[in-house]
Amino acid sequence: MATLRITCSVFAAAAIVMLSSYCYLGFSQKKKKKNNTRTGLVDAIGNTPLIRINSLSDATGCEILGKCEFLNPGGSVKDRVAVKIIEEALESGKLFPGGIVTEGSAGSTAISLATVAPAYGCKCHVVIPDDAAIEKSQIIEALGATVERVRPVSITHKDHYVNIARRRADEANELASKRRLASGIHEEKTTNGCVVVEEKENSVISDSVTGGFFADQFENLANYRAHYEGTGPEIWDQTHGNIDAFVAAAGTGGTLAGVSRFLQDQSKLVKCFLIDPPGSGLYNKVTRGVMYTREEAEGRRLKNPFDTITEGIGINRLTKNFLMAKLDGGFRGTDKEAVEMSRFLLKKDGLFVGSSSAMNCVGAVRVAQTLGPGHTIVTILCDSGMRHLSKFHDAKYLDQYGLNPTAIGLEFLGIK
Ligand SMILES: Cc1ncc(COP(=O)(O)O)c(C=O)c1O
Repeated sequence: MATLRITCSVFAAAAIVMLSSYCYLGFSQKKKKKNNTRTGLVDAIGNTPLIRINSLSDATGCEILGKCEFLNPGGSVKDRVAVKIIEEALESGKLFPGGIVTEGSAGSTAISLATVAPAYGCKCHVVIPDDAAIEKSQIIEALGATVERVRPVSITHKDHYVNIARRRADEANELASKRRLASGIHEEKTTNGCVVVEEKENSVISDSVTGGFFADQFENLANYRAHYEGTGPEIWDQTHGNIDAFVAAAGTGGTLAGVSRFLQDQSKLVKCFLIDPPGSGLYNKVTRGVMYTREEAEGRRLKNPFDTITEGIGINRLTKNFLMAKLDGGFRGTDKEAVEMSRFLLKKDGLFVGSSSAMNCVGAVRVAQTLGPGHTIVTILCDSGMRHLSKFHDAKYLDQYGLNPTAIGLEFLGIK
């Protein structure tokens, strides 16, 4: 009897200990979750989910994974780049709080710079061609940046929007240094006399800035580093190193370069590929070593500047960022495939993505077809379809180019 009583008390004590440690663990986990907050907007950028794209994985027999960059606060992969560009500029002393970051961009980078600049006490000025969709400048202005819409001209022209953006940063620096000089003279005013600060007439740069910095996303390697230090390691960790291939299209080349180089530095077995939209010269550069496009070769470009409806990807020059990429091959994608892919993903997975993400998924299927079943392939879901309502996701717009979707499944990529 005594033994039974002792056994019961031991069981009761054990149960109490287990119950209380369970409650404690539960509580501390909740506490951990509560403490798992991110510090400010900048800290909320990156560490995006990597999701299995079920429809494409099931159809190809590969694990096709998409990095959900559309979940960044500024809505795209470019948030990472904006942060890195600003942080490196501040660290190097080329930009100060109160300074203005300028960029010539009609796209996501401008939106991301406008989103993150205030978190560093900086301003943002964006120069864009006046044929860019009006919603884009509205968003950038609503974010508090200034926008200059200019006539579209060739990149070699001094008034190309990228060249104007570079000039605006120089103007801001001139203004700031004149003001610094003036305040120095002002201190000597009692002995020396007057102070005159000539400010450039009609300058769009506010005279209160502490200086300017041209973000230069195409040539600034902070772009590549954002992906080498952020996106690449995240993909490697999220797949536990079980990754066979990475594929993406290139605009500046920063994503493809940073991720491919990081993954190949971890394992030479990871294969990295480009998917290139119509009108871009990169496919030929990667596969044949020459940079040309069919459109140029046929002399069509001048008559018909329309090459692709995808946005933010495809380029006809080699940028410093793209040159950092380590690639094993490339594929071409068509606009029709990108449109069909976007509708397929929406129907089957509930994924509402933009044109570059859709093209990246076309690339992922091409890689799956090349490597065969059983491989893990990662790509980037750069931004959401919400940024593409007036073109890529507009039936009337697509109709003009005969691009409205007709596919039932993935037959447009040869999958029954
Ligand atoms: C929506 C979108 N997707 C993809 C890209 C291409 O990325 P990257 O510039 O890193 O080559 C861009 C570039 O601007 C973009 O705006």
